[in-house]
Amino acid sequence: MPDLVRFSVSLEETLLEKFDKEIKKDNYPTRSKAIIDLIREHLVKKEWAKGKNVVGTITLVYDHHKRELAGKVMDIQHDFHSIIVSSQHVHLDHDNCLEVVIVKGKTEKIEKLSSRLKTTKGIKYATLNMASTGKEI
Ligand code: NI
Repeated sequence: MPDLVRFSVSLEETLLEKFDKEIKKDNYPTRSKAIIDLIREHLVKKEWAKGKNVVGTITLVYDHHKRELAGKVMDIQHDFHSIIVSSQHVHLDHDNCLEVVIVKGKTEKIEKLSSRLKTTKGIKYATLNMASTGKEI
């Protein structure tokens, strides 16, 4: 485990009070843990912005009856097979499907896949969740 360091931060008292109130609601055990998470979140965003090798998930919700949508979603995924690690399909009810696609690769290609899926007609919900390989944080 790397050495821990302590540092002090100067900020407005009211800002810290608001922060402490929120992290208490979120059940953070300590202020340090909350700040560590904020720093890591920031670093992950930077990893994505720099176009590095990253991992993430794309979550989709769609009605598989609509306009041969399931086939279209499958075709798009085949076009990006090199960055798709795995996908899981769940039949939510008679009409709706939830699909989670785990992706790994360059930011640009992952965002292109996410955009292709998101803008496909009939997709009810699509979101890209940026995660990290864990190496840089
Ligand atoms: Ni389904």
